[in-house]
Formats: sequence, structure tokens, C-alpha cells
Amino acid sequence: MNIIETRNLTYKYPDGTKALDAIDFSVEKGNITAILGQNGAGKSTLLLHLNATLKPGDGIVYLKNEPFAYNKKGLHHIRSTVGMVFQNPDDQLLAPTVLQDVAFGPKNLKLTGAQIKQRVDEALCLVGMNAYADKPPHFLSGGQKKRVAIAGVIAMLPEIIVLDEPTAGLDPQGCAEIIEILDELNAEGKTIIFSTHDVDLAAKWADEIYVLHEGKIKNNGTATQIFADHAMISGTGLRLPTFVQTFRELKARGISGGDSPLTMLNFVESVSKPFNVLQVRCAITSTDVCAGENVGLVMKNGALFTTRIDAGSDVKNNAIGTVLYDAKAGEDIVVSGKTGTLSPKTGDIHIVPIPCVIEGGSRAVDLETICAVIARLRPHKIGAMGTSAKVAVRKAGIQCDFEVDVIQSSILAALRGLDVMVFATGGMADRVIRKIEGNNKHGGQQIKYLRLL
Ligand SMILES: Nc1ncnc2c1ncn2[C@@H]1O[C@H](COP(=O)(O)OP(=O)(O)O)[C@@H](O)[C@H]1O
Ligand SMILES: [Mg+2]
Repeated sequence: MNIIETRNLTYKYPDGTKALDAIDFSVEKGNITAILGQNGAGKSTLLLHLNATLKPGDGIVYLKNEPFAYNKKGLHHIRSTVGMVFQNPDDQLLAPTVLQDVAFGPKNLKLTGAQIKQRVDEALCLVGMNAYADKPPHFLSGGQKKRVAIAGVIAMLPEIIVLDEPTAGLDPQGCAEIIEILDELNAEGKTIIFSTHDVDLAAKWADEIYVLHEGKIKNNGTATQIFADHAMISGTGLRLPTFVQTFRELKARGISGGDSPLTMLNFVESVSKPFNVLQVRCAITSTDVCAGENVGLVMKNGALFTTRIDAGSDVKNNAIGTVLYDAKAGEDIVVSGKTGTLSPKTGDIHIVPIPCVIEGGSRAVDLETICAVIARLRPHKIGAMGTSAKVAVRKAGIQCDFEVDVIQSSILAALRGLDVMVFATGGMADRVIRKIEGNNKHGGQQIKYLRLL
């Protein structure tokens, strides 16, 4: 179902600038949709129509197939369904404290004091800002302000969250945190619409991309479809995602094959099949070695190690390579492969669901059980997705290896032979399983997974 849609949407600013020209834009419920375009393309103008901040000059906006009504009742319905996070948090955060800011919206909804408190607590907890409730917003960092602005919107329980350039001006860690929060909201069923000029972000994160240029939609589709159209991308002043550029260079040299990759995981798949990885490999040497020496090669704990080939030992099933230079034990060396195959055993992924905030969050899990599961399975890597899982893992005193980009990092680690345990909040556990199943279907190596607890 299209939850929100525009048909023939056209808009001119009072000074005569035509910012939108006959825009047909539709978003499926539960999707993550990117509006991608360079500065001045019309992204903000389009988003401002989706919660009726602007009224179309021409054309119609539909919410669940009903045309927008711009009267008092209609606007109330639109704004309680569509939450808007503006590009600049300073335009949004106006109250003296974080708590008062997030409570501002719910207070206008005729809720009881207890209901308001619960909504504010849950929203601040979800964005990881409850420790800052009494701080003035203007003392916070850019990323923290953005998280508070998102909390203010989610405290209104909108079905659709619209964000204008949610990662602009944030450092990589700040960007990753915002994406994690939005991923968690999406796993709970919220529809996400965001604008960006970041092609890498759109490529790896959006279910559907609309490319906007000079007020017109140039194309829409999945990232794979959009970034296959190189001429359109360069004609709109955008560039191809880094992975696509790198892939094209490798493909031209016969190293990569298959579909253009959009993530690190796709990229690894694209090179591992046609490329004989035994030609030249980096390994860690277990003993001192000399240039020209033949060594055995084994995969262990996600890395390639050399072993000594002793006369008479059975090395039939091992790959054997030649060391290219002298090295001491423990050093990285380069080996040129001669014979044999390396069939690295993939690691297992264990998924531990943790209730989300509204289901009781980290308070609803028994930390001793978590520690016991880790002690029993002794994973090489541990990941936590979503707020409750991160809080639970932290409370249990466990050191996390993956806190952002958890699914992809876990699959990559498992493909290298490492066992991974992922603590996943609420609906995110199912998402981990879907991604592993998708990878098993496309990739050659099968990863075993198990849902625990
Ligand atoms: N308040 C305004 N008055 C007049 N023109 C505007 C106004 N806001 C934006 N524009 C113009 O409308 C076009 C689209 O702007 P905008 O939607 O802000 O693009 P984007 O968000 O993609 O950078 C640009 O040409 C911009 O200069
Ligand atoms: Mg803008």
C-alpha cells in the first residue's frame, strides 16, 4: 500500500522560483525511501509538502489514498501521522531543557501526566538521550541535538517519519548512530522518508530512491536500478557510490563480476567468485620463514595462517603456497599460491532477541542468562543492534565488537570463519535472519544461524 503519495505536485515560491515541477512520488508503507539530489534540487520543498507545511500550487498529496485536507481537522490528522525532523535541529529545539522539548508535542495531545512521562521516557531512551533530560538543548553536540529532535517527533507516535538531510554535518560516528536509531524505528514498522545528497548512504540504506534534479524526478527504483544509470547520475551532478566506482575499475580488469555492489558485503561477493584468491594472499606466519619456502595454508579464527610442512606429514587437503619474502613468526607475509583449495568453514551467527523499550527493554532480560549464553558459546565477535540490546549488553559488562552496521559486519565475520553473537532489539532479530537467508541464497558460502532464548 502507498502510505503517502504526490501526483503532479508543482510548487512555485512567492518570488517566482519553480521549485517542484509535476512530481509523482509514492512511498510504500514500511519502506525506507531516499530523495537524492544536489543542493537546490527541491528536496526540502518536496518534504515540506508531506506534512502540509507547504500547500501545492498544483497537484495533490495523498495520505493513505485520501487527498490532504488543509483545514484544521485535516492538518491535525496529517501532522499526527507524518512527523518531520528538520535539517537544522536549532529550528526544532526551542524549550529550555531536553525533557521539556520532547514533552512539548505530547502535552498538546490532552494526555495525562503519566502518559506524557511514559512517552517522553520511551522516546529519550530509544535515542539514547535519557541521561541528558535536564540539559539545555543548545549545550548538546550536533548529533545529540539531532537525536533529541527525533525523540520529539517519535513521542508523537507518527506512522511516517520525514527527515531532511538527517546526517548532514555529522561526523561518521554521529551519522551511524542516527541511522541505527532510524533502522530500529523502521523495524518497529515506521515508514522512513529522508533527503540526502550522500549517494553512499542512499545506496546502502534505502529500499527505494527518487532522484530529484531541478525540481523534477529523474528516476526512481532500487539502488541497483538507480546506480546502473551512469549517464543520469552524472547529469544530475551526483556521483556513483564508492563501491560502484571501485567495482567498475575491478570489472574492467577482469577481477570482479556479477551485479554492481552497493555494500561491503556485495563487494566481497563480487570479487571472491571469479578471482582465484590463492594467487596472492596475505597470511600470518606461525614460524620464521624464508623467501621461496613452501608453507601450508589454513584458515583459523577468520584469518589465513601458514603452517610448516613437515616431511611425511599429510598435507593433501591443505593449500600450499610459496612465501615471497623472509619474515618472523607472527608477521604478515605475502604468499603466492601453488596448489590445493582453502575451504574456510564459515562461522555461526547466534541471534539473541532483546525486548524493545515498549516491551520492557533491557529490564525484561536476565543478565545472568546473557552472560551464561556467552560463556557457553564463546563467540569470537559480539554485536548489539538497537537501544535495548546495547543497554542490556552494557549492563552485563560485555565488550561489544559491532555497534553500528551490525548485520553486515556479522555476516562478513562469519564468512571469514568467526562465530558471532548478535543481540537484537525487538523486530531487528527477524531482520538479521532475513539478511543471512538472503546472503545464503546469493552467496556461495552458507552461514548457519540460530535464534536463542
Ligand atoms: N523561501 C524560498 N524562496 C524562494 N526560493 C526558494 C526558497 N526556498 C528554496 N528556494 C529555491 O527553490 C529551489 C529548491 O530549493 P530546496 O527545496 O531548498 O532544495 P534542496 O533542499 O534540494 O537543496 C532552489 O532553487 C531554491 O533556491
Ligand atoms: Mg534542503
